[in-house]
Order: sequence, then C-alpha cells, then structure tokens
Amino acid sequence: MVLDDKLKKMLTQSRYIHSVNVAEYARHLSEIYGADKEKAYIAGMLHDCAKCLDNETMNYYIKKYDIKLDDYEKESRALAHSIIGGYIAKYEFKIDDEEILNSIKYHTTGNENMTLLEKIIYIADLTEKDRDFNGIEELRYLVENKEMDKALLTSLNNTISLVIKRNHVIHPRTVNARNYLIYNAKK
Ligand SMILES: [Fe+2]
Ligand SMILES: [Fe+2]
Repeated sequence: MVLDDKLKKMLTQSRYIHSVNVAEYARHLSEIYGADKEKAYIAGMLHDCAKCLDNETMNYYIKKYDIKLDDYEKESRALAHSIIGGYIAKYEFKIDDEEILNSIKYHTTGNENMTLLEKIIYIADLTEKDRDFNGIEELRYLVENKEMDKALLTSLNNTISLVIKRNHVIHPRTVNARNYLIYNAKK
C-alpha cells in the first residue's frame, strides 16, 4: 500500500502503531454505527500524519499550502498538527474526500456539529487499544454500545477539566463541540 510506505517514513514507530490502532478501531466503530469503513480506516491511518514533523518541516508545509492557522494553533503544535495534517493528507496523500480531511483537521479539538466520521476518529484516537487512562473503560463501553454522543461529551468534559487544571487555554472549537452536544441532547 503506497499510503502505508509514505506514512511510515513520516512517523516514529510508536506513532505509526498508534495510527494503525486508530484505523482499526475506527473501522470497527464504523461497523457499529453504519459509517463508511474504508473512509474511517484511511482517516485513522492519516490522522496524525503531521504529528512527528519538526518545526522547520511544519513551517515548510504552512508556507507551501498557505495554511491559515488561528492564534491558538500558531501557539500549539499539539493543535497545529491536526490542521496541517488535513492539508498533507489532501496534497501529499491525494485524499480529496472532505469528510476524511475534516475528521483529520478536527481530531484534536472536536468541532461544532461533528459528522459521524469526525466523531469516530475523535473517539478512536482516544480509546484505541493501547490507550490507558482513568475512565477509558467507561468511554469504550459507551462507544461500543451506540452511545457515541455520550462518549464524546464525557471525553470533551474530561479534556476541558484537564486543560483548566493545567491552566492552559481551551480551543473554542472544543467548547463549541461540547455545547452543541448538550443542546442537541435536550432536543
Ligand atoms: Fe493527533
Ligand atoms: Fe492520534
């Protein structure tokens, strides 16, 4: 698989293994939720394609593709890698499916009114088989039992709490993603 060889060169071994895990879990979740399995697999494989780039290479791609990062993303590689990854997937891996590209761009922050694929990649990234943190079993239980929005809300709440504890800034998309799920649950 061409995608695979190219990706391996861009990632550390552990990041590559994580990407395969996310792809496989995303494909499994697609079966549960009736999403496109192939798209989920590709999005999972590519979601962290920009994660291991050094600053110089990141800047090279930002210039090359005229990537507009917001102030939060400019300050944080952890946020920037998702957006830049969306462009690398498009232009370097020739992925033209907007749904795949958006699920890569928003896999770190979440987004308001996420598509099913965006939700699957977000949650698969957090709960793939090698992940381990307090509360992961609850998340996996929810997501395996068709409670995707509850799983998402729980993990967004966890993320926001953690970011507050560490006194870091919260990306507005994360807040919007959470608020949207709460409003939607009330409808
Ligand atoms: Fe990531
Ligand atoms: Fe990831």
